[in-house]
Amino acid sequence: MPKKIRLGILGGGGDSLIGVLHRVASFINDNYEIVGAVFNPNHEDSLAFAREIDIPTNRIYKDFDTLVEEELKLPEDERIQVCSIQTPNFLHFPMAKKLLENGFHVICEKPMTMNYEEAKILQETHKKSGKVFALTHTYTGYPMVRQMREMIKAGELGKIHKVDARYYQGWINPIIHDKEKRSSVWRLDPKKAGISSCMGDIGVHAFNMVEYTTGLKVRSLLCDFNYLYEDNQMDVDGTVLIRMGDHVKGVIRSSQVATGEENGLAIAIYGEKGGLRWEQENPNFLYRLSDTEPIQVYKPGHAYNSELSLEGTKLPPGHPEGIFDAMANIYKGAAKAIRGEKYNDGEFPTMEDGLRGMNFIENTVASHKKGNVWVNMD
Ligand SMILES: NC(=O)c1ccc[n+]([C@@H]2O[C@H](COP(=O)([O-])OP(=O)(O)OC[C@H]3O[C@@H](n4cnc5c(N)ncnc54)[C@H](O)[C@@H]3O)[C@@H](O)[C@H]2O)c1
Repeated sequence: MPKKIRLGILGGGGDSLIGVLHRVASFINDNYEIVGAVFNPNHEDSLAFAREIDIPTNRIYKDFDTLVEEELKLPEDERIQVCSIQTPNFLHFPMAKKLLENGFHVICEKPMTMNYEEAKILQETHKKSGKVFALTHTYTGYPMVRQMREMIKAGELGKIHKVDARYYQGWINPIIHDKEKRSSVWRLDPKKAGISSCMGDIGVHAFNMVEYTTGLKVRSLLCDFNYLYEDNQMDVDGTVLIRMGDHVKGVIRSSQVATGEENGLAIAIYGEKGGLRWEQENPNFLYRLSDTEPIQVYKPGHAYNSELSLEGTKLPPGHPEGIFDAMANIYKGAAKAIRGEKYNDGEFPTMEDGLRGMNFIENTVASHKKGNVWVNMD
């Protein structure tokens, strides 16, 4: 077993939603050990959390700049090799940029930056750095999503003509309808979340899934947002028509006010020879649809799956694996890249996905603001 990769954590404190997913994911395949962190903006909170999860406190720094400064003083074989950024959105860009400039690999939460301009700057920094950059579009780590990609790549659906991605949640309902609450969460504050709430937070996952599974690029789009209240500057619901080619069209639907919905990400791709349908809340079932044959159900771990899909399962068929395993698969792919090992480009989303995502978010806002018109992606 090679030596564990020394991992630093930024954000993801005990008070966070996503921190536990990253921590568990980083341990699952025995590739990483957490050696340093800034879990919270308050140093005492960071230290207390490190004690709670039993991580040595000598490298729990008071802030991000101190982490970089102090780690650079350590011998290279002790220094953090990769930092995982799990903070609110506005910190992704400055943290990722400084890390790459100082020779650290980066694992970063989405949306990658606050806007497309920052994304392009980060792309340049990344090119110069020669370091690994992995973006945690978690859902691409599911074995059956990977299977979908490989089946489409192998031409099993023939020419694609229709795509339908939906990401429906209802969690913002108790916040959005209360004036005081809706002005106090970071996800509805453009200074902290960026120009979009719903599309920036979850629509971008659906967009990423569409490009990841089909291997095609969205060329143009038309978006209609709902903000619900005059004083709310951020979309909480949006429908996007997309064109991926002259005869490849579809829709990305995304909502944070879909009452009663939990984490309803679903994607369906239809082609001349068949269709594939997958839903995040039942991630171990991939449905293959046909006009002439009964519906088929693909499940993880069986030898009939592609190499990329099988790389993402650890247990024999019938042992359900879920979101922690999907994120762990992204960490596993990033570990291979960090160690200079061979990997499939479907094993983790990259800077290119981050750039596409930011281009998508900006264009949805532009389309809506111009009066729901068609706009072209770069
Ligand atoms: N990949 C996914 O499926 C997924 C799911 C949820 C959230 N996210 C993304 O993860 C990020 C965090 O989301 P969340 O829901 O966990 O947010 P959160 O508000 O629950 O947690 C953010 C954490 O960052 C810490 N933090 C804030 N400022 C900091 C600073 N200056 N230095 C160090 N730590 C700091 C907070 O103390 C907290 O622990 C967001 O960018 C979000 O879009 C991704």
